[in-house]
Amino acid sequence: MNILLIGLGNVAHGLLTILQEKSDELSKRYGFTPSIVGVATRSRGTIYHPEGIPISELLNITRKGDFREIENVRYDLDVLSLIQQPDVQVIIETSPSNFETGQPALDYCYAALNACKHVVTVNKGPLVVDYAGLQQRANEVGCGFYFEGTVMSGTPSLRLALEALRGAKITRVRGILNGTTNYILTQMENGMTYGDALSLAQDQGYAEADPTDDVEGWDAAGKLAILAAALFGTKLKISDMKVSGINGITSTNVQSAQQADERWKLIAEATPVSASVRLMRLPVSDPLSGVSGAVNAVTYTTDLMGDVTLIGAGAGRVPTGFAILSDLLAIHQRFKS
Ligand SMILES: NC(=O)c1ccc[n+]([C@@H]2O[C@H](COP(=O)([O-])OP(=O)(O)OC[C@H]3O[C@@H](n4cnc5c(N)ncnc54)[C@H](OP(=O)(O)O)[C@@H]3O)[C@@H](O)[C@H]2O)c1
Repeated sequence: MNILLIGLGNVAHGLLTILQEKSDELSKRYGFTPSIVGVATRSRGTIYHPEGIPISELLNITRKGDFREIENVRYDLDVLSLIQQPDVQVIIETSPSNFETGQPALDYCYAALNACKHVVTVNKGPLVVDYAGLQQRANEVGCGFYFEGTVMSGTPSLRLALEALRGAKITRVRGILNGTTNYILTQMENGMTYGDALSLAQDQGYAEADPTDDVEGWDAAGKLAILAAALFGTKLKISDMKVSGINGITSTNVQSAQQADERWKLIAEATPVSASVRLMRLPVSDPLSGVSGAVNAVTYTTDLMGDVTLIGAGAGRVPTGFAILSDLLAIHQRFKS
């Protein structure tokens, strides 16, 4: 499988580490032998070699290193030209998410599908903006379009709903889809103020220097839009959803919930006709209430199985790299001739 990697940051590093460490196992168990033929970034340009670029060399230059350290490759192709190269079979989109335009990833995804290349994306932007259009184009051209890592990273939230629960009707999805805010709420239950808990989250690398997207609920809303589109076919704009975050919560709020055997959680919830992200007080008996720290969880309410809850990592290099691997293996299995 010849792969073009768009973005060479944290997630790409996680994927490349897994591919390097599991190379023998992936080949023996699945007959899966990936080759990275091209890489594209924003500030460092692109590299391309149809016979593959050694993963060990790519790992040396993820996030910061200079592409000129890699010899015998082409440096002259722009991203759209790279996507068109006949040797590229799959593109992996790991550039930053833009929920308003989906760009430039949306153009990259369409360019790949139009050229009959499979797409794996962990970038939420293109799906938040145009889930239905991308799915339709993938179906028209008969290519794989996979995006497990966009919701709960490698914890298989989408695969559980779309594959394992196939045949059951999902009537509602409810989840803790943002680890940063759950981490902050957990620290507040341990006695910290909101400000101190946010600072700790930033020190620990859970929160960005600008935490707005997390604490105001936008990151969770993006993931909910993808879930609602995938499960219910809802064409929801984030601007159509009721979205609020955790930034108004006080230590007093947290303590009074604890005294009533309840916990505050930032809950993203959708049914076929509604979607919202908001702080809710959940009884300790609710499975989502027991989810602590930077962990994610989702509960699917179904007709045949009642509630089914999945708990696991929601971010991180290796979990998100694993999400991409699981999608690559799905493509390998589905399209092998
Ligand atoms: N990190 C996580 O745990 C996680 C989990 C789930 C989903 N995601 C999603 O995965 C994506 C990547 O996250 P990350 O943490 O790996 O980000 P990151 O470390 O900031 O890396 C982003 C990479 O994308 C490249 N890039 C930026 N603009 C580009 C453009 N216009 N064309 C081509 N490449 C471009 C950057 O190039 P330079 O090297 O030149 O800066 C960089 O290599 C994001 O969409 C994020 O929302 C991340």
